[in-house]
Amino acid sequence: MTTRRDFLKKAFLGTTVLSLGNTFTNLNAKSYSHIIGSNDKIKIAAIGVHSRGAALATNFVKQKGCVITYVCDVDKRAAARCAAAVEKVQGSRPIEVTDFRKALDSKDVDAVIVATPDHWHALASLMAMQAGKEVYSEKPASYCPSEGEILIEAVKKYNRVYQIGTQRRSWPNVIEGIRSVQDGIIGNVYFGKAWYTNNRPSIGIGKETKVPDWLDWDLWQGPAPRRPYKDNIVHYNWHWFWHWGTGEALNNGTHMIDLLCWGMGLDFPTKVNAIGGRYYGNDDWETPDTQVINFDYNGKKSLTYEGRSCNSKTVEGNSVGVMFYGDKGSLLITGTNGYSVFDMDNKIIKEQYSQIAIDPRNLMNPAETLDAIHINNFFDAIRKGTKLHADVNIGHLSSLLMQLGNISTRVGHTLDIDPLNGHILHDEEADKYWTREYQPTFEMKL
Ligand SMILES: NC(=O)c1ccc[n+]([C@@H]2O[C@H](COP(=O)([O-])OP(=O)(O)OC[C@H]3O[C@@H](n4cnc5c(N)ncnc54)[C@H](O)[C@@H]3O)[C@@H](O)[C@H]2O)c1
Repeated sequence: MTTRRDFLKKAFLGTTVLSLGNTFTNLNAKSYSHIIGSNDKIKIAAIGVHSRGAALATNFVKQKGCVITYVCDVDKRAAARCAAAVEKVQGSRPIEVTDFRKALDSKDVDAVIVATPDHWHALASLMAMQAGKEVYSEKPASYCPSEGEILIEAVKKYNRVYQIGTQRRSWPNVIEGIRSVQDGIIGNVYFGKAWYTNNRPSIGIGKETKVPDWLDWDLWQGPAPRRPYKDNIVHYNWHWFWHWGTGEALNNGTHMIDLLCWGMGLDFPTKVNAIGGRYYGNDDWETPDTQVINFDYNGKKSLTYEGRSCNSKTVEGNSVGVMFYGDKGSLLITGTNGYSVFDMDNKIIKEQYSQIAIDPRNLMNPAETLDAIHINNFFDAIRKGTKLHADVNIGHLSSLLMQLGNISTRVGHTLDIDPLNGHILHDEEADKYWTREYQPTFEMKL
C-alpha cells in the first residue's frame, strides 16, 4: 500500500505538485486519492479500549474501508475484550499489545484512535504523528494548554490528519442549528450558556494496594510523574484527580463550549472567571463537582458554563445542552441531534429533532449512528483530503477554554487573557498550570 509519506516523496519528484507548494493542504483532492487507494482499507490501532475506545473501535469497523489491526491497552483484560468484540464484526482478530509503541512501529497501522485517560491524549497523538500515523483523538485534545499548542505545531510539522472527538460537529441537526445561529435566525447573538448535569456516585477513599497483575501501572501513568497505585483510580475515576484528569469541565464541558464558540464565531476570550469545588461528599475526588465558568469577550459577548456532576436537575429540560441568546430570540441545542428556536416571547418558532435515539448519560457510546458520520469524515480526510469537521485548532480551543476555567477555579481569581493567543496575562500563579511536570522520558517534544 502507498502511504501518504511515500506518496509525498513521489509527488515531490514531479514539478506539477512542487509548483503548487509543498504543503499537504495544497494538494488537491485528486492527488489525495492516491494516498490510500480507494479499495485499500485504512489500518487502525485503537489505543485505550476499556470503554470509549472499545465503542469507537467497533464503530470504526462497522464503517466501510477500515480494519482494526491492533488493540492496545495497559489493561490486558480490556485489550482481550475489545479484540473479541472487533473480531465479531470484522472476522479477524486484531493483535493485542500492552505497549502501543509496538503498533506505532508497525507498517500495518495507518491511523490510531486515542481513547486513553486525558493525561495521555496529547503525547500519544504526538508520538503517533511522529510515526507517520493519522490521529482520531478523544477530547480533550490535551491535559494542559501547552500540550494543545504543541499538537497544533505537530499537525503542521508532520503533515497529519488529526480529528478531535467532539463528534457533535458531524451531527446533521446540530450543524443545521449552528448554521441557523450563524445565519441570524435569532439576530445578533451576544450570550451563550452551556451546561452538563449528572448524578455521579462517590469514589470513596482509595487504599494503596498491590498493582493488579492485569495492569501495567507504569505505562498507564506515562507522562504523569509516578505515584503509588490506589484502588479507586483505574478505570474512569482518574477523571476526578488533577494529576491525571481534567474534571467535568473537560470531560463534558468541552463538547458544549465547542458548540457555543462554533455558533458565535468566538475563539480566545479576554477574561475568564470561575468558581467551584468538590462540594458533594467526602472522598478522594479533587476536581469540581459543581462549577460555573464565565468567559468575557471584550465586554461585548459572553459565555457561561455550569457543571453539576452530582445533581442532575436539568436545565431547560435537558441534562446537557447549550442555549444561544440573541436580540431576536434564542436557540437551544440539546444533548441529542436537534434544536429548537424561540422568539422573544419564548414561543417555539422552529424545531428539528432526529428519530435516532441518544442517551447523553451513556458514558461509553451515546450515539453510535451519528458518531459514524464523524468517523467517516476522518476517513474522507485521509483518503480524499476532505475538510475535517473538528481539526486540531477546534480541539485546542474547546480544551483551552475549559482548562482556563479550571485554572481560574484553582487560583480563585479572574484571569486576564490575551485574545490573540489565549495566553494568561501577568499572572505567575495561574501560569504555573499552563504546562505540567513530566515523568522523565515521557515529555512532549516536537
Ligand atoms: N466523545 C465522547 O463522547 C466520549 C465519551 C466517553 C469518553 N470519552 C473520552 O475517552 C477517553 C477514555 O474514556 P473512558 O471512559 O473510556 O476511560 P477508561 O478509564 O474507562 O478507559 C481508558 C483506557 O485507556 C487505557 N490506557 C491507559 N493508559 C494507556 C496506555 N498508555 N496505552 C494504552 N491504553 C492505556 C486504560 O487501561 C483503559 O482501558 C477519555 O479521555 C474521555 O474523555 C469521550
